Amino acid sequence: MYALFRKIFFLRDAESVHETVLHRLEQLQRSAAGRSVIRMMAGSTPSQPVEAMGFHFAHPLGIAAGFDKDVRVVFALQELGFAFVEVGTITPRPQPGNPRPRIWRFPEAEALVNALGFPGEGMEAAGRRLQALREGGLLRIPVGINIGKNADTPADEAISDYRKVFDHLYELGDYFVVNVSSPNTAGLRDMQAVGVLKPLLSPLIEYNSARANKPLLVKIAPDLADEDVSAVGRLARELNLAGVVAGNTTIRRDLVPRAATLERGGLSGAPQFPRTVELVRILRSELTASQTIIAAGGISSPERLQRILACGANLVQVYTPFIYLGPHCVKKLLKI
Ligand SMILES: Cc1cc2nc3c(=O)[nH]c(=O)nc-3n(C[C@H](O)[C@H](O)[C@H](O)COP(=O)(O)O)c2cc1C
Repeated sequence: MYALFRKIFFLRDAESVHETVLHRLEQLQRSAAGRSVIRMMAGSTPSQPVEAMGFHFAHPLGIAAGFDKDVRVVFALQELGFAFVEVGTITPRPQPGNPRPRIWRFPEAEALVNALGFPGEGMEAAGRRLQALREGGLLRIPVGINIGKNADTPADEAISDYRKVFDHLYELGDYFVVNVSSPNTAGLRDMQAVGVLKPLLSPLIEYNSARANKPLLVKIAPDLADEDVSAVGRLARELNLAGVVAGNTTIRRDLVPRAATLERGGLSGAPQFPRTVELVRILRSELTASQTIIAAGGISSPERLQRILACGANLVQVYTPFIYLGPHCVKKLLKI
């Protein structure tokens, strides 16, 4: 059934379809009847409990950052069976992102390229929606908040952007992810260098330890050299971070021949998987057993999901595989 919907969806621009789907999910999640329609679409999801970052997860599979940038459809994603949702990337101020078109599909490879550049309504709108979620009494799953900087904030003021979003949303997130790895904001990925990352993280850690000590993670790019992945892992250990999200989209183009001509954007989906395995292996060897690895990047089949857990990931996220698998995504990926 979804195969047919997908054909129709794929006739239209990817971002317009995304907007239509978000709008429909927003409508459905408002009523009990709508939420049961979503549950019917998703089918039953098995329980495979995971304890991580001090939370109980019904199973290891969550939705990756970027799908619900502005905290619009968390209930719907919960009813679709995801065990956790990472909202964002959230920036201090609203911003339009890069010019359109900025999402391209490559169905032959189950991949996407996006050059969105964090379009979003900003932290104040996100805060109001998160507050409503928390007050609604319907939320049963952990919600992570992925934080970033505005495109027009100069590099030397980036720390203050991260700090603003962290402070503003602190009470409303279960865990936080410092995103220094999206390829669509100029200079962002340079902050993965440990010499830059440490001073970026330190004020957040200081603020955090004076309060609730919420799990704080950093999200890295798959394009880092292995030594740099190790270095981030060692820094995460030194700073006693809750863990690492590995990873973001890649700037590699050789993975999908038809994408070779696209000059901007990050590639996601099935072709990323071999590198995701490597990232998780490297990080597992650097982190302590109590630190969490959230794997993302091409986890598109139950076999891949089991494999990445066996390599040492504690939790797993999907975005692109959800687009290709549809509302049964959780059921399909958890079945082995
Ligand atoms: C359209 C799109 C938008 C994304 N936006 C964000 C974002 O705002 N912040 C972020 O950290 N990652 C973002 N990502 C990256 C995903 O969270 C994920 O790390 C990446 O897509 C690899 O996972 P996948 O193969 O399951 O898609 C985005 C991905 C896509 C496809």
